[in-house]
Formats: sequence, C-alpha cells, structure tokens
Amino acid sequence: METIFSGIQPSGTITLGNYIGAMKQFVELQNEYNCYFCIVDEHAITVPQDPIQLRKNIRSLAALYLAVGIDPEKATLFIQSEVPAHAQAGWMLQCVTYIGELERMTQFKDKSQGKDAVVAGLLTYPPLMVGDILLYQTNLVPVGEDQKQHLELTRDIAERFNKKYNDIFTIPEVRIPKEGARVMSLQDPLKKMSKSDPNQKAFISLLDEPKQIEKKIKSAVTDSEGIVKFDREKKPGISNLLTIYSIFSNKSIPELENEYEGKGYGDFKGDLAKVLIEALEPIQKKYYQLLDSPQLDEILDRGAEKANTVASKMVKKMENAMGLGRKKRR
Ligand code: AQP
Repeated sequence: METIFSGIQPSGTITLGNYIGAMKQFVELQNEYNCYFCIVDEHAITVPQDPIQLRKNIRSLAALYLAVGIDPEKATLFIQSEVPAHAQAGWMLQCVTYIGELERMTQFKDKSQGKDAVVAGLLTYPPLMVGDILLYQTNLVPVGEDQKQHLELTRDIAERFNKKYNDIFTIPEVRIPKEGARVMSLQDPLKKMSKSDPNQKAFISLLDEPKQIEKKIKSAVTDSEGIVKFDREKKPGISNLLTIYSIFSNKSIPELENEYEGKGYGDFKGDLAKVLIEALEPIQKKYYQLLDSPQLDEILDRGAEKANTVASKMVKKMENAMGLGRKKRR
C-alpha cells in the first residue's frame, strides 16, 4: 500500500479553504493509502503565536481532523513536536538546501513582506516540511495549490540527498484537487483564503456559527453585474462562491448557473449560506463531543507512538548516510 503524508498548521481555526484544498482529500484517500496526517505545530511558530492559544489550536485541529471524518483506525494522526525526528531531519535537510532556493519561495516572500524583523525559521521552514514528508517514505502528498512550490522543492532536495549521500528517500508526488485547489478570500477574491487573515470576514472557519456564516457570505465581495456566472478572470468573487457552493452541494457549476438564472446575488448567497450551515452542523457537533474527551488524547498518543517508530528509523538512516555520530560496536 502506498503512503500519504500531509500536515496542517494550527495557526487558527481551519477554513473552508483548508477543508476543500486538503482535509476533504484526506478523508477520501484514507481508505486506499497508508496515511499520516500531522498537526504541524513547529511550522506554526515561524510567525508569532500566543503560547496559550497555540496549545488550544493544536487540540482543536486534532478534534477537527476527526470530526470531518479522519478515522484513527485507518490513518495515523499526530502532533509534529511529539515526534522529535521531524526537527532532526529538518536540520539535516537544511544542510542540503541552498539559501537561494528558500528565498524564492512565494510563501516566504508573502509572509515576510513589509515586516521589519523576520525570524530565520520563516525562511528555513521548507526543509522542515521536506523532512515531514520524506520521513515516512511518502508516495503522495495531498495539498492545496499554494503548496505546489514547496512540493517541487521537496522533490529536488530528496533527489539531491539521494545522489549526494545514499539513495534512501522515496520521491513524492503532489496531489492537488481538481476543484477548489485555491479557495479565495471572501473580501478580496484575488487573494487566497487564509486562516490567519486578520480580517475575520475574509474566511469562513469550520467552527463558525450559523449567524456568522450568513453574515460573512452576505458581505462577500462580488461585482455589480448581478449575474450568477462562472468567470474567474472577470467575476472572481462570484466564481469563488460558485466553487464553494458546488463542492458543498454536489451540484456542478453549470447546474448552479442554470438554477440561479434570472435571480440576484441575494437569493444565491442566502441559499449558499444555508448549504454551508447544514454541512458544517454535524462536523461541529462531533467536534464539541471530542474536544475535551480522553479519547482524543489516546488517539494522539497512539499516533505519536507509531509515527515515532517509523520516523526515528528514517532519521538513523539519514545520519548513517551523512556520517553523523558513531558506528555502533556489536
Ligand atoms: N485557500 C486555500 N484553498 C485551498 N487549499 C488551501 N490550503 C490553505 N489555504 C487554502 C491548504 O490547506 C493545507 C494546510 O495549510 P497550512 O495550514 O499548512 O498552511 P497554509 O497553506 O499557509 O494555510 P493558511 O490557511 O493560509 O494558513 P496561514 O494563514 O497560517 O498561513 C495545505 O494543504 C494548503 O495547501
């Protein structure tokens, strides 16, 4: 059975973007692959985090993974910082990564733009992500489109390591969903929807209450044409809402365009809000049952144990390949 690895940062409550781009794929793929799903808390600290809030976000993300349908009997769910091999591999891989490669990463450019002081980790986190993936001999990485560049870097670094030291890494493929690969901000449809956007109206989180969902959809930026039609270039706002609607209603975009022919954006937005509220209700119910349960800790303990076993063996192989430490006497 082939292996999947993917992670999500506990940098806020996950949005419709994270769900559609990443989590929804995870749930679909868990039946066919040996899956590792990670809460990548070490990545989250590359930008300022409040420690108390970060702890809450980690637990919340774990409960959400399960609430959307990740089955801990099928997939391994764990927290990155509970598996030290990730930081160890990240360091070794930094030493085979060029600074120029890191400076070219668009996420680094976006997140460092306009900041006076940028921590080194924001530049050097891609090799940590490379380690996350390579430690499990991953074949496939399901992610949203924004991660494509990081995945290309992962393949380059894995190939470089294999060539320079020893052929130990599987070269992973990326898997980006056909629909919803890049869900856009509700307030600026030319910008990606992000869970850490300071403007709360820009995203819908999986835990938003019905009233918030209605408000956010109502205030979503569209255009003045009043025609429900998909056109990413000319009508990015309505096209983004159509994509979200299509995914949550299982209706195709042309079907929705027909349904709303001659109707205004008000009707369309009202119905979209209803569809979202209905879809998120069972997820939220399960989430609140799990959040403080001992069952959640048991699942994360088991996940960390399994991930530690696999990842520490790979770290040993990396150390041996690079000549770190001593050869053990028999
Ligand atoms: N808008 C999006 N549309 C589709 N997929 C998305 N993803 C993120 N935003 C969208 C996918 O979600 C997964 C987890 O992402 P992450 O938490 O590791 O970091 P990110 O890509 O930086 O996501 P955010 O929400 O924008 O986080 P912050 O605000 O902390 O930077 C990835 O598979 C990603 O592609």
